[in-house]
Amino acid sequence: MQLEAQDLAQAVIARMADCKEPRLKEVMTSLIKHAHAFVQDVQLTPDEWMAGIQFLTAAGQMCDEKRQEFILLSDTLGISMLVVAIEQAKAAAAFKPEAGADRPTEATVLGPFFWEGAPELALGSDLSIGQPGEPTYYHGRVTDTVGKPIANCQLDVWSGDAEGFYDLQKGPDAPMALRARFHTDADGYYRFWSIRPTFYPVPNDGPVGNMLHRLGRHPNRPGHMHTWLQSPNHESLITHLFVSDSPYIDSDVVFGVRNSLVVDFAKHAPGVAPDGRVMDKTYHTCHYDFKLVPKA
Ligand code: BEZ
Ligand code: FE
Repeated sequence: MQLEAQDLAQAVIARMADCKEPRLKEVMTSLIKHAHAFVQDVQLTPDEWMAGIQFLTAAGQMCDEKRQEFILLSDTLGISMLVVAIEQAKAAAAFKPEAGADRPTEATVLGPFFWEGAPELALGSDLSIGQPGEPTYYHGRVTDTVGKPIANCQLDVWSGDAEGFYDLQKGPDAPMALRARFHTDADGYYRFWSIRPTFYPVPNDGPVGNMLHRLGRHPNRPGHMHTWLQSPNHESLITHLFVSDSPYIDSDVVFGVRNSLVVDFAKHAPGVAPDGRVMDKTYHTCHYDFKLVPKA
């Protein structure tokens, strides 16, 4: 029997009546409703529909094991950050100010440049040896939300170089650089040296870059140090430390900035750094305490 335009979404939804997976059914029902409403809302033309199909096809063709254009699309449309924020709201539900708890550290996007297997280094190590850039001493403590130190917490850190490029972007044989894994000491403290990360453009030589350009958007992220904290009895946390005076701090192309993650990278004249290292050039310090949610 003939279906009218306004009845098509409901007809598609009705065809899923025998679906045995409730969550899949829920997600697909909502997706179909919103997709049909969107097409109605903009009165999509056949040419525009085909342009959309071609865009998604090109995004798929751009993907390989090192490049994920669909995640980049999700990132630049704010969807990745929305998913992170929804998940974070669950962590925030564990926040009990009345019991003297602190707010847990906020999460942000993982991004495409995490590389499993970074070298495990001793606390205090410099992971930027041989790399140009402004030396920075990163230090702080990892605790739970009531201030109990988390010993032996695994801390992965990674960033781009002084020009904003990650090792993964430097060709198939490029060695790992500016990334390492640490474990906090018995009192939950961490410390290491790296560079002060600079702003950089997300990969923008594909369909997503073209989309940003046509939409009049810049492709840049403010300078940030990626961190991933994992401890067996706490919820793991993927986040960044953002350089407070970096360009683009107010217009991150992937909408990942949280005010609580913006850190003053204090500048110091040559001299003795907090860990006793004698610096013959200007350096920075970045102090940040992470707060993890205990597992239920
Ligand atoms: C990053 O910070 O490494 C990143 C995040 C999202 C898209 C591209 C890069
Ligand atoms: Fe990054």
